[in-house]
Amino acid sequence: MDKLIIRGGNRLAGTIPISGAKNSALTLLPCALLTDEPVTLRNLPRLADIDGFQHLMGQFGVAHTIQGSRPEDFGRVVTLEATRLTSSVAPYELVRKMRASILVLGPMLARSGDATVSLPGGCAIGDRPIDLHLQALEALGARIELTQGYVRAIAPDKGLPGGSFAFPVVSVGATENAVMAAALARGSSRLTNAAREPEIVDLCRLLIAMGAEIEGVGTSEITVHGQPRLHGATYRVMPDRIEAGSYACAAAITGGTVRLEGARADEMGATLDALRAIGVEVTSDAKSVTVSPNGPLRPVELTTDPYPGLATDMQAQLMSLLTQANGDSVLHETIFENRYMHVPELRRMGARIETSGRTATVHGPAPLVGAEVMATDLRASMSLIIAGLAARGETQVRRIYHLDRGYERLEEKLALVGADIQRVGDD
Ligand code: EPZ
Repeated sequence: MDKLIIRGGNRLAGTIPISGAKNSALTLLPCALLTDEPVTLRNLPRLADIDGFQHLMGQFGVAHTIQGSRPEDFGRVVTLEATRLTSSVAPYELVRKMRASILVLGPMLARSGDATVSLPGGCAIGDRPIDLHLQALEALGARIELTQGYVRAIAPDKGLPGGSFAFPVVSVGATENAVMAAALARGSSRLTNAAREPEIVDLCRLLIAMGAEIEGVGTSEITVHGQPRLHGATYRVMPDRIEAGSYACAAAITGGTVRLEGARADEMGATLDALRAIGVEVTSDAKSVTVSPNGPLRPVELTTDPYPGLATDMQAQLMSLLTQANGDSVLHETIFENRYMHVPELRRMGARIETSGRTATVHGPAPLVGAEVMATDLRASMSLIIAGLAARGETQVRRIYHLDRGYERLEEKLALVGADIQRVGDD
């Protein structure tokens, strides 16, 4: 295992290239199951979760080729070919390591009429049920069986008829599974209260490039007119809005000026609004977002919400920044029940934070002092990195395999803008 050693106090300055979006790539990859033709994804981030997903797809007989990319390049081009599927089972051994594996259920069901996926189980931020995924697929005509820790979805002989489903709770993954399954249904499907995240827009754009017919892209009312088959396509993964927001917080906590190359301001609205409210200067153009200091940091009250609200995936990172604001901030985490795992570790660095249920109060400014801290989940780990960049002295962040799931070559990107950070082996 590795750890990161950060010596705080450097003001970040320069340009950070933003990689392809993890949470888009994880729903674009399974689209390859929907056709026997090659699907090529460009700007695919080099992440542990992406490698894991490609390995899972290999279990089904999906071939993938990585087109030549230099070691120094960020991202890569991967072509997937699901010409002939040799299995329709996603085994526990793989699914337990990556809950996004559930996103093969819908496309595998649509392609082969029969899909079996190990139940993913919970994770550090909550029990993460999949009931909405299953309800949506049943509404499209699937029969669902739960046996021995696996879920099996079966389509009628002639394929999924399609149908209508109103999501009682907005769910990104369940929306993605339903849209992918509906793309090959015999009829039309109508999804209401669907998630509107930009990653779902990316998914719909790839499916349309593959020949799908989808109306209401980017809205909470999505209609999919099923097609008898889809063809191959080449598609570029959208930039990672959460990675960009994370580095924006890193720049802001050091009082630095950093250009986030590739970031799309129109997909980061709530995050950029929060940063401006905190007192960070944010400017943007068609190809980037730039953050710079604009006076002392101000306390705010923030609530996470489904898109276009403030992303829950930005909560931990903003909390670190708010430890330096002049006053008390309040954060409300409405999406997951246990997304304050970073708080005890931030406290060990001197942060003054109280939590009560899903609400956290951050008293600032609190001088941060470097410490040995432990990463617990992906975004909590990033919040510790952000705190370490502002802390006096040295911070050691351990178990950074959590970070490697979602941040491509993080220490290289931060070093590009002057951070004193290095990755070393951890005994
Ligand atoms: C996606 O997870 C993201 N992951 C998460 O990012 C992100 O935090 C989340 O959406 C919310 O934006 C990927 O895209 C791979 P949900 P997902 O279904 O799809 C409940 C990161 O750090 N729910 O929108 O699993 C659920 O428990 C990760 O990059 C049900 O009750 O999230 C949660 O409270 C973390 N039943 C809420 O809905 C279901 O069947 C939203 O979950 C599904 C979800």
